[in-house]
Amino acid sequence: MFLRALRWLRRKVADRAQRLLLTVLAAGPIPRHVAFVMDGNRRYARSHRKRPTEGHLEGFQALRRMLEICFVLDIRCVSAFAFSIENFKRSPEEVDTLMGIAEEKLLELCQHGDLLNKYGVRLNVVGNVGLLPKPVQKAARKAENMTRHNKRRVAIFNLCMPYTSRDEMTTAVQTCVQNAMASDSPETPIITEHDIDRALLTSKGGSPPLDILVRTSGVKRLSDFLLWQCCENTQIQFADAYWPDFGLFDLIPIILDYQRKVWSR
Ligand code: FPP
Ligand code: MG
Repeated sequence: MFLRALRWLRRKVADRAQRLLLTVLAAGPIPRHVAFVMDGNRRYARSHRKRPTEGHLEGFQALRRMLEICFVLDIRCVSAFAFSIENFKRSPEEVDTLMGIAEEKLLELCQHGDLLNKYGVRLNVVGNVGLLPKPVQKAARKAENMTRHNKRRVAIFNLCMPYTSRDEMTTAVQTCVQNAMASDSPETPIITEHDIDRALLTSKGGSPPLDILVRTSGVKRLSDFLLWQCCENTQIQFADAYWPDFGLFDLIPIILDYQRKVWSR
């Protein structure tokens, strides 16, 4: 009983300290859009003698924690790379596991009273959704609809799955060509950078320009993620922690570095 009370007290103090830290951080410039390449789930599992599935499940919990930190900081848009189109080449067991996690956790995240509802966030499942198994497509559509009324803070969560930039750009160009061919203007239609930008899946959801892209697990690759969105001011940050271990104290130096660069512009 006494130990339980002590643990409760310690958690409360830690929560308060975290809130205070976030309030201080939020006094400086805050990025509008932060994206995460959540890498290292299986290496995390291996290093803890756990199964890969546990690595992915703990990865989901890390995503939850990071989303809450970002929304408390008032970051308007968070994008997370949950499944690359290339990941369909993994073993059928692992693909099934990840699809199962997506089907269950997407709905959980969007329920009334849960994270996205609490912070007034709209979910966009960004990617070639038609490649997902039918039950996951259904869950994705349902989860998105559950958050459509969340307009209070105009905050957005882009869950990218199954996604690659090349696929997103190809689809955007196809949309532009179709629109141009359907136009009855007598002049030869010219497709501009602005047209392609507007046809991107992220633009349709209203995402602001990407300020920070974070990749965890010490790997320094972009893996075909948000390549169009990485504009001249996007700061790319590589963190050593495996994704399930990535937390507030890994994010703080990244935000401080962003603030320092904004102030020195
Ligand atoms: C990369 O680690 C991670 C993934 C391919 C899956 C990411 C998924 C989650 C964090 C949770 C899923 C959440 C939802 C809502 C679907 P890796 O498997 O490449 O690990 P490794 O780099 O150590 O091999
Ligand atoms: Mg990996």
